[in-house]
Amino acid sequence: DELYAQGQTGHQPPYPMTFADLEEKASAAMRPKVWGYVAGGAGDEHTQRANCEAFKRWGLYPRMLVAPTERDMSIELFGVRLPSPVFMAPIGVLGVCAQDGHGDLACARASVRTGVPFFAATLSADPMEDVAAVLGDTPGFFQLYTPPDRDLAASLVHRAEAAGFKGIAVTLDTWVTGWRPRDLSGSNYPQVPSGCLSNYTSDPVFRKRLQPGEDATELAVRTLPIFGGPFRWDDLDWLRSQTELPLMLKGICHPDDVRRAKDRGTDAIYCSNHGGRQANGGLTTLECLPDVLEAADGLPVLFDSGVRSGADAIKALALGATAVGIGRPYAYGLALGGEDGVVHVLRSLLAEADLIMAVDGYPTLKDLTPEALRLVR
Ligand code: FNR
Repeated sequence: DELYAQGQTGHQPPYPMTFADLEEKASAAMRPKVWGYVAGGAGDEHTQRANCEAFKRWGLYPRMLVAPTERDMSIELFGVRLPSPVFMAPIGVLGVCAQDGHGDLACARASVRTGVPFFAATLSADPMEDVAAVLGDTPGFFQLYTPPDRDLAASLVHRAEAAGFKGIAVTLDTWVTGWRPRDLSGSNYPQVPSGCLSNYTSDPVFRKRLQPGEDATELAVRTLPIFGGPFRWDDLDWLRSQTELPLMLKGICHPDDVRRAKDRGTDAIYCSNHGGRQANGGLTTLECLPDVLEAADGLPVLFDSGVRSGADAIKALALGATAVGIGRPYAYGLALGGEDGVVHVLRSLLAEADLIMAVDGYPTLKDLTPEALRLVR
């Protein structure tokens, strides 16, 4: 209503109203090497594009004579009530996307204002404790890149628990960086910028290794695989023993991996292909989602990669995802308008989703089942 009211009074909205416009304006506003890093993906980027196109193969049935004047989009995850089924997926370079270098804090503030949960990244310009302080009572989650050094990994996990995050998403698909031609062409960052290492450089275990006068960032760049290292099933058992927090496994797309994860006490599956940034394998996460859900058999399934609109989010939710993440869209909002830009992107996406539920006759997310969808012939 608010967005329509602005339109009807003839005001130009301060930020783009479509994803295409958002992308175009962000590409003009961002420094070229930041733009290239954020917008780019693996190989010729066909998986990245297919992630988005996959949504067009599903159509949502409109149901009439329901006209739900009230809609409820809240969900429950790990016993926590969340007002939005859409969340901000972890992004490791929010610092460089924001004009003032503090994009992680801006997104945390946007989370407080909208209720859209924020997944704070290991690679962050501000330490997780500062992000958590901004979040206050708003539930947030922590994304973990797991350093091979277990003392350091354990320290990150214990800090996330102490800071009050409600769960940890362990990212499994980035222990090596994928083949990213845009980055390799030399115009982008050769790797994550050093300003995103604050969770490492502030860590007490890491700081014990500092020699007097030594620069923490320099030591981190020199000695740490900053995306963590190889992480295998046995490492998962170790991680499980380190924390009471719910664990989500990010990057799982095969149903056999889902079953194995479930057997080992994982609390949620996070079905993602990293927005097509890691492997140009051709399989979209939307195609994987139904099999993942079947294997998960009631375990919560988070989903991301390719969501660009409220309509896309609704389709993933109707298939059965518990919650749906967005990546690049909110990074673009951040680059264009800081905290306000992020709020705009989130509110617009939620408003579209809410109005689809209204027009198409689905009062709650429980009413949105796979039967609400059909494949477009
Ligand atoms: C990411 N993503 C990501 N994931 C993660 O677990 N840790 C990280 O540090 C990052 N960093 C990161 C940087 C940038 C610039 C992007 C675009 C993405 C992946 C992210 O969490 C999510 O899986 C994808 O962004 C979802 O795809 P879309 O919405 O961007 O298509």
